[in-house]
Amino acid sequence: MTFRTLAILAGACVAAKAAPTPTFSKDVAPLLQQHCQACHRPGEAAPFSLLSYQEARPWASSIQEAVQLRKMPPWFADPHYGKFANDRRMTEKEIETIVSWVKGGAPEGNPKDLPKPLGFVDGWNIGKPDLTVTMAQKFEVPASGTVDYQYVLVPLNLTEDKWVQAAEVRPGNRALVHHVIAYVREPGSNWMKSAQPGIPYKPKPGEGGNGEHLVGYAPGVPPNALEDGQAKLVKAGSDLILQLHYTANGKAGSDQTSIGLRYSRVPVKERIYTLAAQNNRFVIPPGDANFEVKASFEFGDEARVTALIPHMHLRGKDFLFKATYPTGESEVLLSVPHYDFSWQLSYDPVKPILMPKGAKIECVAHFDNSPNNPANPDATKEVRYGDQSWEEMMFGFFNVAIDANKDLRSILPQRRPAAKPAAH
Ligand code: HEC
Repeated sequence: MTFRTLAILAGACVAAKAAPTPTFSKDVAPLLQQHCQACHRPGEAAPFSLLSYQEARPWASSIQEAVQLRKMPPWFADPHYGKFANDRRMTEKEIETIVSWVKGGAPEGNPKDLPKPLGFVDGWNIGKPDLTVTMAQKFEVPASGTVDYQYVLVPLNLTEDKWVQAAEVRPGNRALVHHVIAYVREPGSNWMKSAQPGIPYKPKPGEGGNGEHLVGYAPGVPPNALEDGQAKLVKAGSDLILQLHYTANGKAGSDQTSIGLRYSRVPVKERIYTLAAQNNRFVIPPGDANFEVKASFEFGDEARVTALIPHMHLRGKDFLFKATYPTGESEVLLSVPHYDFSWQLSYDPVKPILMPKGAKIECVAHFDNSPNNPANPDATKEVRYGDQSWEEMMFGFFNVAIDANKDLRSILPQRRPAAKPAAH
């Protein structure tokens, strides 16, 4: 071997060594800040904190697995379709950094390399609300057992119409609240007509109904804040109806959830409205592992789609949003191949999708009512549409932006006599 080859070999050796094991302080902590700490810190949704090396170290191998399988951070859109402004996925390189840190023994490195700790807002994430309303009574959650979905009326007492730019649900007890959806009940609606504020209510026959989806809460889902110039219209005399899903966790406790609304400070150009392609006439046979349900919505006039929100319950398996244009062309807007009921995520297209008059949103969902679905409450039951978590839903919620002075009804489907806004 000549001196030259030796030198080259030595060089190669140095090059291989040049990629040292990533350390927590220098390489991993910034990734946890960016992708994990919103939920993995005290008082938030995730079951353990990832703020420090001491906290993260025992979880190293589960962290590796969760990021490699892309179970964490939670984001379920198939990357082949659509581009989303709120995309949470980590890059391959970021995942690789975490994997080689764990494989290299998960070293701490030099604490001097640590990034500055993030400052977190404690309290409202939407800024100080202009209006805060709270459930009139506490709800007592038992130590164990399944708790039915609760429906609670929360009056707003608005004497004039309001343009709401941001809304946030703040659970009173995060350990017990699995999810909350706040709906706006317009004045004159029959929905839960004889409900009393704060008292959980079982709608009587003839008091079913619907309202506009205002804001949802689920662990780690950011509050609903719109851009300047966009807002939701909440009419004078409207009330909120909360759908609350509590999960018993071994210790009895109580919850009293609040909702904050922030009004637009600037003139509103675009009204944002939540609509849905929905189907409530399905029957899922017992044991069926792949039962298909479809729904569609045809635009009566032009609108821009700004968010896509699939909604099913525990048997939900996959969900697809497709746009079909009057030209006959169609495109997949969002595909969620593995739906997870724990995460009520909104997928917000980078650019609003223009839906001309006559265009359609078409949704295709599959349900897994087989015993192979670990979330399935009972594989021997026939399952229909219903409010409770052991019943099912099929909603392709989507937000549209329309000119603020335009009549909302013009964009609803024109052929059917009773076009419904998004029900729950
Ligand atoms: C949007 C909130 C949120 C974000 C962001 C998030 N997590 Fe989680 N994480 C949770 C919740 C809630 C759970 C418990 C429920 C569950 O397992 O689904 C969890 C569970 C886990 C678990 C337990 C094992 C498992 O797979 O169930 C690991 C490990 C984990 N997260 C790591 C991470 C890492 C690493 C990141 C960042 C790369 C991250 N998480 C980002 C909310 C979040």
